[in-house]
Amino acid sequence: PTVYVPNDSVALALGADALAAALQLHALRRGSPLRLVRNSSRGLYSHEPLLEVDTPAGRVGYARVSAEQVPALFDADFLHGGAHPSCIGLVERLDWLQRQERLTFARAGLTDPLCLDDYARHGGWAGLLRALELGPAATVEEIAQSGLRGRGGAAFPAGIKWRTVAAQTAAPKYVVCNADEGDSGTYADRMAIEGDPYQLIEGMAIAAYAVGASSGYVYLRSEYPHAIATFKQALERARAAGWLGARVAGSSFAFDIELRVGAGAYICGEESSLLESLEGKRGLVRARPPLPAVRGLFGQPTLVHNVISLATVPVIVARGAAFYANYGAGRSRGTLPIQLAGNLRTPGLVEKAFGVSLRELIEDFGGGTASGRPVKAVQIGGPLGAYLSAAELDLPLDYETLAQHQAMVGHGGIVVFDDRADMAALARYAMHFTAIESCGKCTPCRIGAVRGRELIERMQHAPAQAAERAAELEALCDLMEHASLCALGGMTPYPVRSAIRLFPADFGLPRPNPA
Ligand code: NAI
Ligand code: SF4
Repeated sequence: PTVYVPNDSVALALGADALAAALQLHALRRGSPLRLVRNSSRGLYSHEPLLEVDTPAGRVGYARVSAEQVPALFDADFLHGGAHPSCIGLVERLDWLQRQERLTFARAGLTDPLCLDDYARHGGWAGLLRALELGPAATVEEIAQSGLRGRGGAAFPAGIKWRTVAAQTAAPKYVVCNADEGDSGTYADRMAIEGDPYQLIEGMAIAAYAVGASSGYVYLRSEYPHAIATFKQALERARAAGWLGARVAGSSFAFDIELRVGAGAYICGEESSLLESLEGKRGLVRARPPLPAVRGLFGQPTLVHNVISLATVPVIVARGAAFYANYGAGRSRGTLPIQLAGNLRTPGLVEKAFGVSLRELIEDFGGGTASGRPVKAVQIGGPLGAYLSAAELDLPLDYETLAQHQAMVGHGGIVVFDDRADMAALARYAMHFTAIESCGKCTPCRIGAVRGRELIERMQHAPAQAAERAAELEALCDLMEHASLCALGGMTPYPVRSAIRLFPADFGLPRPNPA
């Protein structure tokens, strides 16, 4: 029988390698041969390492299995799906999976990330082959019609960006993949690269073909060593198999990708400092205009996209714009890989069409708080995302609804806090984070974040003057929001203001009069 042990970073951190080694050792000792596949993770992180075994009925799962449990698993005849306390039954039948709409993460947990045959067997390269048939202009229109918006956080319509780059006459052009995933509580980019690297390669190749680029760069953060190692190998194998290089898939289209590793600065996730860093300079934000689409890497037209935007391209082109646009709510089309983190019983990756409610995500998928205590606040969209209160959990998750509530979807990370959270400490942390990560180019952010941290500290230590400090803090937030050069300084007020508005008592402030 075939046995699967994930080699995703989370599974590895929880002992997947030791489990894989123990399985092989005991199989030898007992004379029960097995075929071990190191698959990607399903994203059900509370269950890792999630061991799966092929049975005639489908894959049977065993959750949170340690190397020490392996002898008992053999005794329980797990190779034929035998009963054991860790057995969770048929994995595909789990409510948690069945209720998802996995398009970008359709292969998660199913395939061996580096196996080209596996990728092709599960629908891989169909998007690229269709794009080569459609031609560049029709491929751009396919993306425009799908309604895809940038999944890195800003939600800018991808079709407009592609049209802009395609319309440039300068050559060469570049495609740059932003894999500097720095938001707290997010891991979709990492999962996509570790678990399905050819999908990103395919998405980049389609994008390059569509906009007329001949080289691509992936800017991957140094904190993801396993993703770096996986992607390096994926590039070599894709090249050797003719999916990259002088004649992509036997066509006249030439394209190759270079992997670059960042050095740990959060600001290098901002597209213009990322481009500076790629050019070998310090990661300082560039003033816009010009936009990267017009003058980006080395001054050339550049299509910059987040990993998830590019990884979603193959399914859109393979299945058609209408198929993708059919998912979603309002102007938020398609699906979003939502990353559940923080105080939750079953955190993990949930891909759903826009419009799913926060309550469904937190209670049904996330299993409620791990502590069993009530939810106090939810932060969406990274360290600079706004907080929402427990009273707002019935809001649907889509770009417009959250914007109406002074919040944002961002990169789809949701971090849950229970009623013990100190919102003044969290607001202080937002300012502290920006003070550390600021690139220093503009004053509202470089100085403002330090002053903001001090003001919150004074509120914490002298509640009697909290109201005065709050007024100063509000003026500072206003300045940071409107006068900062990029989103780092510009968005720091989001968590600070929302924490004060929703939880004034944590700052020593009176509750506003409900009238
Ligand atoms: P933006 O709205 O200025 O730009 C979004 C994208 O659209 C950029 O690629 C920009 O070049 C492009 N664009 C804008 N106007 C265009 C036009 N007329 N034609 C062609 N392309 C155009 O937002 P920005 O500053 O790039 O990103 C801010 C967002 O980043 C925030 O909303 C935040 O959610 C997100 N973020 C994500 C992080 C992560 O780890 N994924 C970390 C921190 C922030
Ligand atoms: Fe740099 Fe902060 Fe200004 Fe952005 S807002 S350009 S990070 S100093």
